[in-house]
Amino acid sequence: TQRVFSGIQPSGDLHLGNYLGAIRRFVPLQDQYDCLYCVVDMHAITVWQEPNDLRRATREVAAAYIAAGVDPNKAIVFNQSQVIEHAELAWVFNCIARIGWMYRMTQFKDKAGKNSENVSLGLLAYPSLMAADILLYKATHVPVGDDQKQHLELTRDIAQKFNNDYAASIAEQGLDAEYFPITEPMIAGPATRIMSLRDGTKKMSKSDPSDQSRISLLDDADGIAKKIKRATTDPEALPSEVEGLKGRAEADNLVGIYAALSDKTKAEVLKEFGGQGWGVFKPALADLAVATLGPVSSEMKRLVSDPATIDGILRDGADRARALAETTMAEVRKIVGFIR
Ligand code: TYM
Repeated sequence: TQRVFSGIQPSGDLHLGNYLGAIRRFVPLQDQYDCLYCVVDMHAITVWQEPNDLRRATREVAAAYIAAGVDPNKAIVFNQSQVIEHAELAWVFNCIARIGWMYRMTQFKDKAGKNSENVSLGLLAYPSLMAADILLYKATHVPVGDDQKQHLELTRDIAQKFNNDYAASIAEQGLDAEYFPITEPMIAGPATRIMSLRDGTKKMSKSDPSDQSRISLLDDADGIAKKIKRATTDPEALPSEVEGLKGRAEADNLVGIYAALSDKTKAEVLKEFGGQGWGVFKPALADLAVATLGPVSSEMKRLVSDPATIDGILRDGADRARALAETTMAEVRKIVGFIR
């Protein structure tokens, strides 16, 4: 079977990069695959989260999935910490993965900065938990933005090393030699890496100190339009071919956002806007962004105003996820040699 797994951290405000690189792409997949969409609260606490903020952000991510069109009756929507097998498998993977693999992760290097001896141990082991998220369900496909590519390569390395190290035991249990699948990343479309609106060389991120650098999913129409109109650009008109975007990071980014929001390719967008200046393109992009994000934003706000309903959806999703996770974990315990 083909199974999709993806997750988002409930830390800070969701932004346009999360929406276009991940959430929006989750929706059509639920009709083709068996999908699990997780709110990875255990990942979030690798850096300090105030407990009330964590609860609010967890509900917001779940609400964003549903507001964007994920149907919790089709896909499994849940928060990671309710299915404790994630932690259990992550421990086994901590003993499979090498420390050196972890130190090589660019996300770790970025987050740890110069202070790498004084970050949490969990931040270093983060990719091991991410591999557990995916492999617990033997997911074959993982839709994410470009920044998660290296973590997904590590997931493949962990799967491979586990299958290898335990090959004899896997065979003894009568299980498939490729016990854990070698997962395929799904990193595609015009919005795999949305850049900051202030600086076309920096990724749009939750942690950028400038609020002007990102469009939050909870921004109102006026805020969205203002941020787009103030976005940094060069003075040139838009090119009519995609090649003309080379070396023009800011222009490339805004055209990519337009393309992703309208389900078009960049080439199609440039066919329409090639030769036009920013005075035409930016208002068109602002209108499109407001029209697309507005309904998602208001539905999100409606959903989070009723936490009992969201919590019920997460609990139900966790029950369904746990049923799958228990099967894998029972096998893994036998493979490893744990007595029950
Ligand atoms: P997180 O929470 O940082 O981001 C959630 C998703 O949004 C994507 N993304 C972007 N896409 C395009 N442009 C951007 N500027 C941008 N910023 C973020 C991310 O690529 C991601 O798809 N480690 C993951 C969470 C995770 C996970 C998993 C993902 C935990 N377990 C298992 C997939 C499978 C993370 O930190 O995402």
